[in-house]
Amino acid sequence: MSQMERTLVLIKPDAVRRALVGQIVARYEARGLQVVALELRQIDAAFAARHYAEHVGRDYYPGLEAYITSGPLVAMVLAGERAIDAVRTMNGATDAATALAGTIRGDLATSKRENLVHASDSPESAAREVALWFPQV
Ligand code: CDP
Ligand code: MG
Repeated sequence: MSQMERTLVLIKPDAVRRALVGQIVARYEARGLQVVALELRQIDAAFAARHYAEHVGRDYYPGLEAYITSGPLVAMVLAGERAIDAVRTMNGATDAATALAGTIRGDLATSKRENLVHASDSPESAAREVALWFPQV
């Protein structure tokens, strides 16, 4: 039985600065995921705190806020078979230094903070994040 899902993906400001947007989108498309929404945006601190609500108050949050608001990012909704797990697996471990080769982070980054991409981690997160970023979708 197919399990079609939607997930919220961010190509974060470091990836835009490094001109990696095209190759990252191409990897998702090559996997068979469908782009159903896509927009270049720059977010402010208030929006960052909504997106990363579970991280507000952590010791690393000020740095995370500075990073995610530091420049334009690409927000998108991807759809496909088990898309939530598929994209998380493609992105790789949060700490890019230990992310497996073959993942986006493992192939293209080494930082625990500047790790290029975000993806929803559960159906509940996906529903919340898609509604936050793309209320019209
Ligand atoms: O993005 P992911 O779900 O893999 O990781 P997370 O644990 O939910 O953390 C969210 C984001 O916060 C990470 O992707 C990093 O960009 C950042 N972070 C950080 O700056 N410092 C940490 N010690 C942990 C995470
Ligand atoms: Mg997370």
